[in-house]
Amino acid sequence: MVTQQENELMTRIGPGTAASTLLRRYWHPICPTSELSDDRPKKKVRILGEELLLFRDGKGRVGLIPEQCPHRRASLFYGFVEDDGIRCPYHGWKFDTARICIEQPFEPANSPLKSDVCPSDYVVEKLAGLYWAYMGPKPAPLLPRWEALVGIEGQRRIQVVPLINANWLQVMENSVDTTHTHYLHAHMSVMLGMKERGSYHGRPLEAYDFEVVKDDVWSGIRKIRVWGGKDGERELGHPLIFPHILLAPQQEHIVMHFRVPVDDTHTQVFRVQYTPGTDTKDMDWDNPPVDYFPPLKHANGEYDLRTFTGQDAMAWETEGPIVDRTKELLGVSDRGITLYRKMLNEQIAAVQAGKEPLGLIRDPAKNRQITVKVSEGQARMARKMKQAV
Ligand code: FES
Ligand SMILES: [Fe+2]
Repeated sequence: MVTQQENELMTRIGPGTAASTLLRRYWHPICPTSELSDDRPKKKVRILGEELLLFRDGKGRVGLIPEQCPHRRASLFYGFVEDDGIRCPYHGWKFDTARICIEQPFEPANSPLKSDVCPSDYVVEKLAGLYWAYMGPKPAPLLPRWEALVGIEGQRRIQVVPLINANWLQVMENSVDTTHTHYLHAHMSVMLGMKERGSYHGRPLEAYDFEVVKDDVWSGIRKIRVWGGKDGERELGHPLIFPHILLAPQQEHIVMHFRVPVDDTHTQVFRVQYTPGTDTKDMDWDNPPVDYFPPLKHANGEYDLRTFTGQDAMAWETEGPIVDRTKELLGVSDRGITLYRKMLNEQIAAVQAGKEPLGLIRDPAKNRQITVKVSEGQARMARKMKQAV
């Protein structure tokens, strides 16, 4: 049973909160790199309760800085990008990509005011066609080079899901909710006339288990399923990678779902889909294709339940903006959720005590390409279905 206070601790992610302090120790994708161009070198980014501006100066350097100008708080999104920085549209103060104030027109040349501007401490990197942000203390850990991000033996796509109107923890708890796939995905798909889409998760689930992993390069929770029926198998499991990633096989693809906490009641999901073993023809590794998913609801406001994404979004959002966990009735099938909450609380406490949380990588030798094994059942079934066509 979760108390109101515990619920607040895990879900509130604005600056200065305990959960935010933990989540800032990890890298988060913020947008596809194609969203910054010569014509549009600026993008507003809302993450962990902060309004930021991502911009690229005329020399190609990229910065992530507070959106509001430190002078009189106008938005720098409307500023002028120049070779060495961005100039505020209001009175022309200019900042470089680290937010060092490099010009203050109309102030005396010897004014000490420039040094009163706090530089931005946020780090931006580019990988797999995405910009990534690190907002924690320095030195930053390495940006993990997951196989889905750096593998070059297949095809890669980026998928941007519409903004989810729910707290980040609801989205993450779903990643360790082993049994939801039976009704929410399989049964729902069958009921909507999409029998094939429900065939994998609709098999009889004879047993399930969870394994807490604290590995060198990743920590989290593996879900293990034992399927009965004609295509019975013990599934190795697709893991939740602590704190905010789901790694899931989907048909012949390996898909990493990155759940980015935007603010207390919104979550942005970026997915990277890697299809190993396929033709690499026409693959531009620096600029993989980007799919923007269509709206999750119909024009009448009801959820479009024909996709797994729409089905999940319905469940996450209808729980409420921040689910009231004091009113839950958890059963034995929810053990993955309690394990994840335990891990989250332990890591929040570790960071509060000045320790390093789980899953940060600092050794480049361990970060060349990180492969986490997942179930092959889905790929096998997808191949079979293709052969049958
Ligand atoms: S508000 Fe930006 S320069 Fe004045
Ligand atoms: Fe789901």
